[in-house]
Amino acid sequence: MTTLAGPAATLIYDDWYPALRSDLLQGRTVVKALLLGIPMVLGRRDDGRIFAMRDSCPHRGIPLSCGWFDGKALTCKYHGWAFEPVSGQCLEIPSLTSKDTLDPHKIYAGAFPCEERDGYAWVYVPQPGAGRIRVGEATLPPIPEAPKFGARFKSAHLTADLPCNVDHGIIGLMDPAHGPFVHQAWWWRKRASIHEKEKHFEPIAQGFRMSAHAPSGNSAPYKLLGVYGEPITTTIDFVLPNRRYETIRCGAKWFSSLTTVTPVTASTCRIDVYAAWNVFYAVPFVTAIAKFFGRRFVGQDQLTMIQQAEGLRYDPALMLIDDADRPAKWYFALKQARLDAAPGAEVKNPLNGPVTLRWRS
Ligand code: FES
Ligand SMILES: [Fe+2]
Repeated sequence: MTTLAGPAATLIYDDWYPALRSDLLQGRTVVKALLLGIPMVLGRRDDGRIFAMRDSCPHRGIPLSCGWFDGKALTCKYHGWAFEPVSGQCLEIPSLTSKDTLDPHKIYAGAFPCEERDGYAWVYVPQPGAGRIRVGEATLPPIPEAPKFGARFKSAHLTADLPCNVDHGIIGLMDPAHGPFVHQAWWWRKRASIHEKEKHFEPIAQGFRMSAHAPSGNSAPYKLLGVYGEPITTTIDFVLPNRRYETIRCGAKWFSSLTTVTPVTASTCRIDVYAAWNVFYAVPFVTAIAKFFGRRFVGQDQLTMIQQAEGLRYDPALMLIDDADRPAKWYFALKQARLDAAPGAEVKNPLNGPVTLRWRS
């Protein structure tokens, strides 16, 4: 299917996706979000628990976000049905009389498991038509989180909307060959610094890992870490449906990030980067500096994808070449294996052992 925003992607359900930054959920205001094409309304109960409901009243479909939230219940603006927002259970139907036998408690609005991690409201999105998930009772996969290696760290986050489908967002995220062109900058790398690289990969559950290696010598941020005089190692994991974990360790110093590309609709997505670090902990403004460079970096990817979306609108035939696009091929194979696998079954990995890839970047 091709839309104005480009071709739609098949979506992976039964997993956690970040809907929005959870600090937006304050007081009694509710916030709308679109996640995998599903309209949602999110908020925070008086007891601090956050919630995500389908933004649609089960009575006659008006968005529940049009109604009122009192910190405990979300009341529909049309006929006043009130819902407990974490479970979705209907608490009251004001039009019922003492003669009615309908039990409001047997009615549920759509509610999704919703948890806070790294400052995001993560929402578990089940397969459409899967029926109600009993929030708090169902066994769900772990909630994604950037690893931390100590209690004292700083963090920052960035977000950018991408007008392409999630597959292009993800393969852009793992693309090793665009760096010298898209991210040309004195502090990162130059076209002239292109050189041959060899990286080792290994299979991990639902993904693959670029094995621990000494990072690319031509990147200034890594050179900076050299001041600590200890060996630096980087590990990059990709895990379905949409996660890239990067960990850089240098003795007791560390930097860790979790980047996700989340389908907003089947043909648009959003990239979220969360980073935590204890590197240069004592240096003032380090968060501001990191955000400045991070924003420029993500902005360069975003601009490229906006331009790419212009081309993708016409649904051109595309190519994936070896070895530079091999991670993208693995992604498509993993995704297909997951879509084909029975629920809860192991996902067949396209890597059956360590693989070495070579490219110039
Ligand atoms: S449409 Fe929501 S209560 Fe009627
Ligand atoms: Fe990039």
